[in-house]
Amino acid sequence: MGVSGYILIKSGRLIDPSQDWDFVSDILIKNGVIIASGCNIDEETLEDGFKLICASGLMVSPGFIDIHAHLREPGFEYKETIASGTKAAAKGGFTTVSCMPNTDPPIDNAAVVNFIHERARTEGLVRVLPIGCVTRGRAGKELADMEEMASAGVVAFSDDGDPVYDPALMQLALSYSGDLNLPISNHCQDHSLSRGGVMAEGAVATRLGLPGIPSAAEEAMISRDIALASITGGRLHVAHLSTAGSVVLVRSALEQGIPVTAEVCPHHLSITDQWVFGTKGVYTEAASPFSYDTSTKVYPPLRTDQDVGALIQGLASGVIPCIATDHAPHDLASKQVTYEDASFGISVFETALGSLMELVHGGRLSPSTLVERLTSGPAQVLGSKFHKFATLAMDTPADLVIFDPDKEWIVDTNEFASKGKNTPLVGSKLKGKVMGTIFDGEIVFQDAEFLEKVEEVG
Ligand code: DOR
Repeated sequence: MGVSGYILIKSGRLIDPSQDWDFVSDILIKNGVIIASGCNIDEETLEDGFKLICASGLMVSPGFIDIHAHLREPGFEYKETIASGTKAAAKGGFTTVSCMPNTDPPIDNAAVVNFIHERARTEGLVRVLPIGCVTRGRAGKELADMEEMASAGVVAFSDDGDPVYDPALMQLALSYSGDLNLPISNHCQDHSLSRGGVMAEGAVATRLGLPGIPSAAEEAMISRDIALASITGGRLHVAHLSTAGSVVLVRSALEQGIPVTAEVCPHHLSITDQWVFGTKGVYTEAASPFSYDTSTKVYPPLRTDQDVGALIQGLASGVIPCIATDHAPHDLASKQVTYEDASFGISVFETALGSLMELVHGGRLSPSTLVERLTSGPAQVLGSKFHKFATLAMDTPADLVIFDPDKEWIVDTNEFASKGKNTPLVGSKLKGKVMGTIFDGEIVFQDAEFLEKVEEVG
């Protein structure tokens, strides 16, 4: 149920791929619902007591939907909480976030699912959709009670952080996923091939003397899962694609009519393993081989320019229907150690749009394709009942984001709402910034500059 009162957003560039919209127009929100959009709305016709937002020069789109994030609660509240994570999500323009179950205890039964729902209701700034474990305790030995969790409201299943390693278990899980009509999001990593690696296998790993993870570790498991999806008819979703070969595998599965969806993360679309040196992708003799930046340590690892190019193409062509952040906040102590000992993960919510806009400014992606992959694409992975959160159409919940595509800013982690300051983008200049986020008709984030654009009328 949204908050009461009117909000009128005037003269924004409405980018709504669900209706094929890209034009300048207005939106009127009342009591949490969009009651008019895509037409000229005269404020003189409204009764006093409304908020007027001048969105001239800004883009307005449905709120972003993230189907892969780590909110760390319960168990790792020193890294993130539902309160801090959803605040960071709102700052990044996300109005819906699915949270992964690698918590302590893991989300593997209805009681923990209910705990997340309750926490989100009382502390959350945006919608939180829990993902349940595939296996009990994420231990990979036996299936968790997927039906119980489905009844409690999980939107998908995953052992993320780890793969579902046993093929027979994965086959069973996929069979149930078809019956329950909920996707299995698998973290595809064949441990016997990744063998304790900490970054992408290749020249940089060799130079730094760090154990590498071959692309085949990801691709071998994706191939297995596609074969299992084809015999079970289950709903396979491949988490965080990172290699050119993975794009080829997903494309070929789709061509054969095998139902598979996939996601890609902002960091895999924008930076490479060269960033591991800690010199922001610029290789200098002075910086290597003795320096590295542990905030670049992420699973799957940052890879090559060629992989980045293939992922962008996969995203542009629709082979990859959605962008997911894999927001993985960590405390300082987990990163201020050697590269081998550092935790895997990047804090992504607050830099996602800025780094993705680089693809738009570089002509690699249109604004509407980018917004589609952040709204309708992820909604489609979750299922038809989520489409109403991915549109600016009349009579739908007022979840939307207002952003300045051209605003340049420097990433300062002191300003992060997330407890996780672990990003290699610290100090980088990004172009594109969220100005305001509205969730269920309420302004849940407002940039300081944007304050000037909001007027209380009456
Ligand atoms: O880098 C990662 N961090 N990849 C994952 O799959 C898990 C995540 C985490 O939970 O920190």
